[in-house]
Amino acid sequence: SSSSSRKKLLLMGRSGSGKSSMRSIIFSNYSAFDTRRLGATMDVEHSNLRFLNNMTLNLWDCGGQDVFIENFLNTSTNQPNSNNNIFKKCEVLIHVFDVESKEVTKDIEIFQRVLKNLNQFSPQCKVFILLHKMDLIQISKRNELFQIMFTKLQEIATPFNFNITGFATSIWDESLYKAWSSIVCSLIPNISVYEKQLLSFNNVLNAKEIILFEKTTFLVISSTNNSLKNSSDSSNDLDPKRFEKISNIIKTYKQSVNKVRTNFTSLILNGLTSSIYLDVLNDNMYIMIIMDHQDNINDDNLVLENVKIFSKLFQ
Ligand code: GTP
Ligand code: MG
Repeated sequence: SSSSSRKKLLLMGRSGSGKSSMRSIIFSNYSAFDTRRLGATMDVEHSNLRFLNNMTLNLWDCGGQDVFIENFLNTSTNQPNSNNNIFKKCEVLIHVFDVESKEVTKDIEIFQRVLKNLNQFSPQCKVFILLHKMDLIQISKRNELFQIMFTKLQEIATPFNFNITGFATSIWDESLYKAWSSIVCSLIPNISVYEKQLLSFNNVLNAKEIILFEKTTFLVISSTNNSLKNSSDSSNDLDPKRFEKISNIIKTYKQSVNKVRTNFTSLILNGLTSSIYLDVLNDNMYIMIIMDHQDNINDDNLVLENVKIFSKLFQ
């Protein structure tokens, strides 16, 4: 049914932690610079985003000023059955922490109260915590800071029966894409089907790597990698951040292309040892194919023809 594919996501965290910034970058084509214009969110800003075939992301960007947070928390305890209770029927909580916060104790206390409500009204909710604005922390200290905070937040979540997933994020690099890719993929029920179909496509194509991206956000949906399977040594130099880097780069490229009013459809880059193909797969997805040069040459048309055939079979 249509209602079952509507997924409610709560975006919570204290004022200024960066919630509306990340929402605007991932879902509304803002650049990191554009986010400086954002004002504080009043109450809740709702957005409904079509995602893939039949999924709607119902995102609740909850204003983080104390007056709003207190209101959310009090309404839910006073009126557990009311429609004002924002903690009902949530599929995902994304709780954002500013790593430079001067009020860590209060930040944690609010997280705890949010979890208490979720435990009562949406006990199946998936919980993601983002330790955000990592760009403000010295590179050499990021890992340790993340571990300390994440361990602390895990301790907070365990009594409420939540198993949390955590990411270090910043709007100034690709880390935001990794986090949001994994949040969104956690909502796709048939995610393994995509992987199987990619694998069988690659039995024909024999590409080095194939990646599926959602069309508007450019978040990674699925991927398959041949070199990992063959376990050749050369595969070890693959950049583990390559997916989110590509998301970030292509999103920026798309924005520039849109500014000159050209429609961005496909792209072929022929390198020395491999070629990259980026093409529209269907109404909802882009496909990226990385082919090693075999006989010193790839037939670009053949690859694109194969994508066409695959797109007809792909569900
Ligand atoms: P409320 O709506 O009041 O709850 O705040 P919010 O969580 O929505 O914060 P918002 O997204 O409005 O961001 C506040 C400020 O933080 C903006 O000026 C952003 O540019 C900045 N900001 C957001 N993300 C980052 C980040 O990763 N790094 C840095 N350095 N600044 C960021
Ligand atoms: Mg906001």
